[in-house]
Amino acid sequence: MTVVSLAETNEISLPGLAPKEIARVARPLEQAWTMPPAAYTSPEIFELEKAAILRKSWIPIGRVDQVSKPGDYVALTLLDQPIMIVHGKDGEIRVMSRVCLHRAAPIVEGAGNRRLFTCPYHAWTYKSDGQLAGAPLMDDAEGFDKKKCRLPQMRTEIWNGFILVNFDDDTEPFAPQVASFARYFENFKLDEMVIVKTLEFDSPWNWKILVENFMEAYHHIATHSTTFEPIYHARDSLVLDADGPYSILRMPTNKVVENEAGLPMIEGLTENQQTDIYASVLFPFFLIGLQRDAMAWYQILPISHDRLTLKIQVCLPRSTTDLPDAEKMAEAVGEMLNVIHHEDIGANDLVWNGLTAPLTRQGRLSPLERSIWQLNQWWLARMAEAG
Ligand code: FES
Ligand SMILES: [Fe+2]
Repeated sequence: MTVVSLAETNEISLPGLAPKEIARVARPLEQAWTMPPAAYTSPEIFELEKAAILRKSWIPIGRVDQVSKPGDYVALTLLDQPIMIVHGKDGEIRVMSRVCLHRAAPIVEGAGNRRLFTCPYHAWTYKSDGQLAGAPLMDDAEGFDKKKCRLPQMRTEIWNGFILVNFDDDTEPFAPQVASFARYFENFKLDEMVIVKTLEFDSPWNWKILVENFMEAYHHIATHSTTFEPIYHARDSLVLDADGPYSILRMPTNKVVENEAGLPMIEGLTENQQTDIYASVLFPFFLIGLQRDAMAWYQILPISHDRLTLKIQVCLPRSTTDLPDAEKMAEAVGEMLNVIHHEDIGANDLVWNGLTAPLTRQGRLSPLERSIWQLNQWWLARMAEAG
């Protein structure tokens, strides 16, 4: 974990953040303050984040089970870049720009299966590896060689069934950075999970509001007072030591948790893993919720300083999806996550309203919010490097 020393914070200059405020964020947890409001509300900070963090980090954009057959594709837009994940005819999964090489129309939307991708504007046609295959009526264009035209590919890594991309060529590979994280959750066999349901939310907040809300259990006492708190008490939650760019929040319980949906437990879990739930963030915003029988991947696509798309991807082990009642189970998990997320939407709306008020200043962190503190130290170090 990179921690910025108090002396170093004097060197960090960020628009809208006073040096005194930055120094408070960098204090040891027991003395630490939250990030100042401008870190969330300033479009300038978001532009800096894009350059220093978002375009240099590994961002999860899909799961291999979404593109299981040759020709399968998923189109999305990541930080202003229209992209698509394509399972190529040759069996390789690639992520590439889906902006046409002719006059820049995006060539495909949504998801499905195609042998070829044809641009809707003038019908230029691309193969599943991004190679231009056809460009009608271009014979008289001098020196034009369609063999030399290929959609730009993104740096891609597959980790535990997730497809991650990086805009930066120099960032170190993802897996070694989070090796200890992967070991910690090995028993859950994340690579055997399958997306069974997607809940999509247009979310009018800065991305860090959502991440912070996801990563601490302190708010169970009020926001989830009748749902989580009676089972997963805020005071019992703990944030583990991390030796990489991530945080793990463990929410223990001694109660027997009802299994109304009848989901089978993942085999090979430890005693704690059979009862507790976990909310993890691989920095900056790869959010994974885990319990004994299911995974919730909170997929974030930041759009601007004050907007993001959230897709809650409900995932079940492949063996569960083979059961006759799988659909009912997926519905039940989705419904539970929907209820919880609506409680969280209420909290995030409150924070966003307050943060944009002129008299708002940074506040004190609770020691129960250690995960936020961990992310803040990482954020400061990344932003400092860029500054
Ligand atoms: S913009 Fe795609 S074919 Fe013209
Ligand atoms: Fe919550």
